[in-house]
Amino acid sequence: MKKTVLVSGGAGFIGSHVTVELIEAGYDVVIADNFSNCDLTNYNGACAITGRKLPLVEMDFCDPEAVEKLFSDYKIDAVIHFAAFKAVGESVWEPLKYYRNNVESFINLLETAERHGGCNVLFSSSATVYGEPEELPVTEKSPRQPATSPYGNTKQICEDMLRDTVKAKPVIKGIALRYFNPIGAHPSALIGELPRGVPNNLVPFITQTAIGKRECLSIFGNDYPTEDGTCLRDYIDVVDLAKAHVYAVRRMLEGKMKEDYEIFNVGTGRPVSVLELVKTFEKVNGVKLNWKYAPRRAGDVTAIWADPTIANKELGWKAERTVEETLAAAWAWEKRVAEM
Ligand code: WQD
Repeated sequence: MKKTVLVSGGAGFIGSHVTVELIEAGYDVVIADNFSNCDLTNYNGACAITGRKLPLVEMDFCDPEAVEKLFSDYKIDAVIHFAAFKAVGESVWEPLKYYRNNVESFINLLETAERHGGCNVLFSSSATVYGEPEELPVTEKSPRQPATSPYGNTKQICEDMLRDTVKAKPVIKGIALRYFNPIGAHPSALIGELPRGVPNNLVPFITQTAIGKRECLSIFGNDYPTEDGTCLRDYIDVVDLAKAHVYAVRRMLEGKMKEDYEIFNVGTGRPVSVLELVKTFEKVNGVKLNWKYAPRRAGDVTAIWADPTIANKELGWKAERTVEETLAAAWAWEKRVAEM
């Protein structure tokens, strides 16, 4: 019997890539999304790549009745929970919007899953929980630091909710994947990142500047204590990241978890500076980028990258694509968006 995976936020950037990888790995998928931060582009792209009309439920996880109906209508073997707001800056100005959406939706999901006899729950967490790390690279055992934004705090709270629920309710199993910096797009250029308004994140800002939508990229800070003075991050290809979810879901469904709640870092283990990323983008794609140094951005950590050993060993997963391949895919996607 084919297993069914519910993907909340499945029409978004990461959710659509995960949907494609799940279908390719032989799972059935139900996408649930409220389209609060995306349109149908990635859903349609995922259907085109997989050659299927993927089941789609338009709903909000903050609505407990809608979640109940979803679990009644489908037999769900595992859930991957992406549905959340993710703009760090906005979360500072609108904290309650973030707490309500990100935390309440997850409570509804866990309560409903338990009522329906339990579920395997994969939570989309973030390396932001490590804050400014004392030791690099960070392992899953590295201490979490107090969150510097409500967004980051919602990730910590949801991790804790999952851990505590798993402990109390044996019918729920949980995995939290801590993503480093997901970038890039599917090699088909049919799905990718589609930020609304001015992008907050580096790579969409780079591609939009290269295509002429933005005048100039600001590199935030060149006085950090790193080799070239710019920040270091672990940029993980979104297709590699998506594959990690398939391995994690399989581990849960095949009963291979060593503990009922597990955490994995999903990164490459390779630090790349902002300046290096910009230069690599220019080189790989043969484009000249208009950029300048600007003051540091509030809240940025100097450096963070993953020790992905546990994910490599336990999930049997490893990041495969090079930064060059990923930046070429990001550019191909931006060019396609320009034609839409
Ligand atoms: C990367 C680097 C910037 C934009 C955030 C969230 C995290 C996660 C991913 C979200 C930094 C620099 C950026 C620009 C720049 N989750 N930069 N000019 O901050 O590492 O992580 O996104 O969904 O939780 O915190 O990612 O892409 O914003 O920045 O110089 O225009 O690029 O200063 O060093 P970040 P980012």
